[in-house]
Amino acid sequence: MQHFTSAHDVPSIDTLVKNALAYKSDPLMDSHIGTGKRIGLLFMNPSMRTRLSTQIAARNLGMDAIVFNIDKEGWALELEDGAVMNGTTVEHIKDAAPVLGSYFDVLCVRSFPTLQDKDADYSEAILSSLKKYTGIPVVSLESATLHPLQSLADVMTISETFTEKRKPKVVLTWAPHIKPLPQCVANSFAEWMNVWDAADFVITHPEGYELGTQYTNGATIEYDRNKALQNADYVYVKNWSSYNDYGKILSTNAGWMPTMTDIDKTNNASVMHCLPVRRNIELSDELLDSANSLVTRQAANRVWAAQAVLAELIKQK
Ligand code: CP
Repeated sequence: MQHFTSAHDVPSIDTLVKNALAYKSDPLMDSHIGTGKRIGLLFMNPSMRTRLSTQIAARNLGMDAIVFNIDKEGWALELEDGAVMNGTTVEHIKDAAPVLGSYFDVLCVRSFPTLQDKDADYSEAILSSLKKYTGIPVVSLESATLHPLQSLADVMTISETFTEKRKPKVVLTWAPHIKPLPQCVANSFAEWMNVWDAADFVITHPEGYELGTQYTNGATIEYDRNKALQNADYVYVKNWSSYNDYGKILSTNAGWMPTMTDIDKTNNASVMHCLPVRRNIELSDELLDSANSLVTRQAANRVWAAQAVLAELIKQK
């Protein structure tokens, strides 16, 4: 595995999940493989889970982790090739990236989309420039389009909780929100479900919220939410803004917020969400506080997912 920015970077999702579960059982089993190695964590946006879990994962492997809030503390980066830099940007990413590559063994970055310019966001200019110019493995801590460390923890959570000898039915459902949010978590979960191919996967959302087909890749889209929820084993709840009418909120229908009544339509489904969650907007208190909720387990599993990824990247260096 050269980089970790999408499900398509991973040679075997099952092996990565197995390794993550092994770290969960024995966190310090590889506590020396990272001795003398450093990871850099660049943040252009806020984070709690991703930032802390990745630092803990690095520490468990004996690595040093250095966090840099590059949006607030660094120079404004220019991304455009051939730019005449007479504006607000101070340093070209072509110059910054090799320097970062000389300081670190692995470079991790969080860079959200603007939700203003779909082509620019979906070109993933920051990630692709870092991959091109750092010369070291690059890990996405959530990019403009995907959130692979979250998705790995999500797949791990489904793997460790589903005990029946059949494929689980997993439903990704849109839920309302007061702000336009990126499509990243939903894109990423859909991509991982498709590549993993170990679940019956259904996506449900109001019309207009279709995700990019490069991620949904033939997944069943069911606009009838009640029909989608029938016999679900897992209900993954997430808001996203429109992809086609880019970055727009097209619905605020509170009927799309899952409640315990919705769980009655399912196979007593477990409820998932990446967090942070807006209580009683995206998900009801009663569901989040119920035994059906896996949200804390998902967030806890972020440590083991990150540890499995970092171990794979540094073992092969
Ligand atoms: N789920 C997630 O990525 O959480 P943070 O934004 O707090 O890192």
